[in-house]
Amino acid sequence: MIAQRAQEIAPFIVMDVLERAHAMERAGTHVIHLEVGEPDFDTPPCVKEAACRALEKGHTHYTHSLGNLDLREAICRHYFERYGAAIHPDQVVITSGTSPAMFLLFAALLEVGDEVIVSDPRYACYSNFIKFLQGVPVTVPVYEEDGFQYRPEAIQDKITARTKAIFINSPSNPTGNLLSESRMRAIAEFSPYIISDEIYHGLVYEGQEHSILEFTDHAFVLNGFSKLYAMTGFRLGYLIAPQPFIRPIQKIQQNFFICASSIAQMAGIAALEEAAEDVARMKAIYDERRQFIVKRLRELGFGITVEPTGAFYVFANAKHLSNDSYRLAFDILEKAHVGVTPGIDFGDNGEGYLRFSYANSIENIAEGLNRIERYLVS
Ligand SMILES: Cc1ncc(COP(=O)(O)O)c(C=O)c1O
Repeated sequence: MIAQRAQEIAPFIVMDVLERAHAMERAGTHVIHLEVGEPDFDTPPCVKEAACRALEKGHTHYTHSLGNLDLREAICRHYFERYGAAIHPDQVVITSGTSPAMFLLFAALLEVGDEVIVSDPRYACYSNFIKFLQGVPVTVPVYEEDGFQYRPEAIQDKITARTKAIFINSPSNPTGNLLSESRMRAIAEFSPYIISDEIYHGLVYEGQEHSILEFTDHAFVLNGFSKLYAMTGFRLGYLIAPQPFIRPIQKIQQNFFICASSIAQMAGIAALEEAAEDVARMKAIYDERRQFIVKRLRELGFGITVEPTGAFYVFANAKHLSNDSYRLAFDILEKAHVGVTPGIDFGDNGEGYLRFSYANSIENIAEGLNRIERYLVS
């Protein structure tokens, strides 16, 4: 009765952890959430005000299927000012979050059996999207001692006649690490398209992130407002694509989604143009939490070889505790009442790790880690 593709798509395990945590909370247990990849901050006031203004002024209708032109122009200015990348508004498609942008991209790019190279570990949904659209994710393991960065030569070994694209994500979920400029430059030289998920750009505490568009225009950029601007519920993202892909992507958008929310798009303009101070404030607080959580996790015996410098995650080695990260995460949840994400959610090479998110207050992080400390000695 149920279509095979719907039966086959893998669950997003972190959501299983979260749903179990919510069930425990409903039963009266106090749970500390270090599993969710969602900013705990309120959306900046200037963004909320822009959304209210959009409502009051009657911007409550469909927009152009590619998105509001003012927003697309603001994105082009942002990419030019920040990275020196000259893109045209006609190369930008506004979507209801980065996730639908990924769907549009793979729907427009992949023939049945086309391969996309992804790192292992990586954001869980990448390979699920690729498989759902009948492509084949080809994994390249990345290692803790390398800061979980790709080795370009390892990518080269996996390129075949079917390789359509190489997927990069810097700063990365789940590892919080950045891809170095030299490795990114080397990867940009390969002939398949590069797909760069830049959703954690702006959340970098040491060093500097680079857009793939600094190195090549044979590339697609995925980006969105969920993380940097604490706008997850607005559902707003975008795709920057080479010109020939725009019309096909637009047709898919028209059929599947029509357009992104008109109100969210007005809010997105304010985010890009007015929220710099709010972003700086949130970033400074994330950095403080980052330093705290890394130090505390190391004290508790978790392995962190290369300190994460971006996003809001620590991918900690827990192999001394278990090689079954799924069971370990659920055991920590049941016994210590702390939600953490099992490394296996991010690929086979993530097994034995736990992802800790520091998108939570320093008080909650401290309490969560105290609980884990008690769990470890019990
Ligand atoms: C690396 C990465 N890409 C994309 C997304 C999806 O974000 P959005 O809320 O824009 O759909 C997430 C969300 O956690 C993410 O971590």
